[in-house]
Amino acid sequence: MKDLIEKIQRLRSERNAVILAHNYQPAEIQDLADFTGDSLGLSIQASKTDADLILFCGVRFMAETAAILCPDKVVLLPDLDAGCPMADMITADQLQQLKAQHPEAIVVCYVNSTADVKAESDYCCTSANAIDLVRSLPLDRPIIFVPDQNLGQHTAQQTGRQLILWPGYCRSHVVITEQDIKDARARYPDAVVMVHPECTQPVRQLADHVLSTGQMLRLVKDGAAKTYIVGTETGIIHALKKINPSAHYIPASQRAVCPNMKRITLDKILWALEDMACRISVPVDIAVRARRSLDWMIKGSQVTKGR
Ligand code: 13P
Ligand code: SF4
Repeated sequence: MKDLIEKIQRLRSERNAVILAHNYQPAEIQDLADFTGDSLGLSIQASKTDADLILFCGVRFMAETAAILCPDKVVLLPDLDAGCPMADMITADQLQQLKAQHPEAIVVCYVNSTADVKAESDYCCTSANAIDLVRSLPLDRPIIFVPDQNLGQHTAQQTGRQLILWPGYCRSHVVITEQDIKDARARYPDAVVMVHPECTQPVRQLADHVLSTGQMLRLVKDGAAKTYIVGTETGIIHALKKINPSAHYIPASQRAVCPNMKRITLDKILWALEDMACRISVPVDIAVRARRSLDWMIKGSQVTKGR
């Protein structure tokens, strides 16, 4: 492994590449990356990097977002099959049909969506800023929210706005059950329970905090709790241990694994850098329209949250 990492490091500097890794990536890839983070944090890093090449360790919609934000850079995703099933649960055609049914509506898409769907949307958000975005929208307009019904429902509950939802979901999160949380609380009565908004309503209701992965890391960094029950993809536990090694982290469910995130390996990173392979590009007409929806996500949310 040491050999492999040295080869990657050498190529990284030869190619002036930046390596971005999502919080769900395998531990060795998080350790190798220049930046780790949630979808919002990584998009912001991509948008301000001066590297020539962005090697994205995550899933396709994340690399596509980087390609839209940085049209003059090469973006590589070391395994082109690392998709996000939730992002593929709505097509641009389906969104057009939904828009035709609600012609007055503002369209908000979760960043976990294809570039085509972003191009059909007015605003794009992540789980870190969906609530802020919806709060900022005019009260006299209906709002379509796609594709995640769970983040959409959570956002509707927190803002008091009625959202027109799409029945998308993340399998790696909906496998966390109410019983998992009850069992974990019974075993660790003093633990703080934090879950991702992609979890189902009964699970969110049992949690102390409903947070994006970046927000979970911030909570733990400053938190005094000794034990945290973690209701999201288990890869984040590595990042949590790094940011606060003195606390204990209990996965709410060992089933909460995203197989797509785990498709990225050190070998594939090396091959991508050697061959400049697995390039992600977005057709210009789609990218230009999708970029508009991403503007608030990158600029607006930094103003709102001071990230
Ligand atoms: P975050 O933006 O919270 O990191 O979540 C991304 C994701 O894909 C959750 O499943
Ligand atoms: Fe998509 Fe779920 Fe994997 Fe996140 S955890 S990338 S939403 S499949």
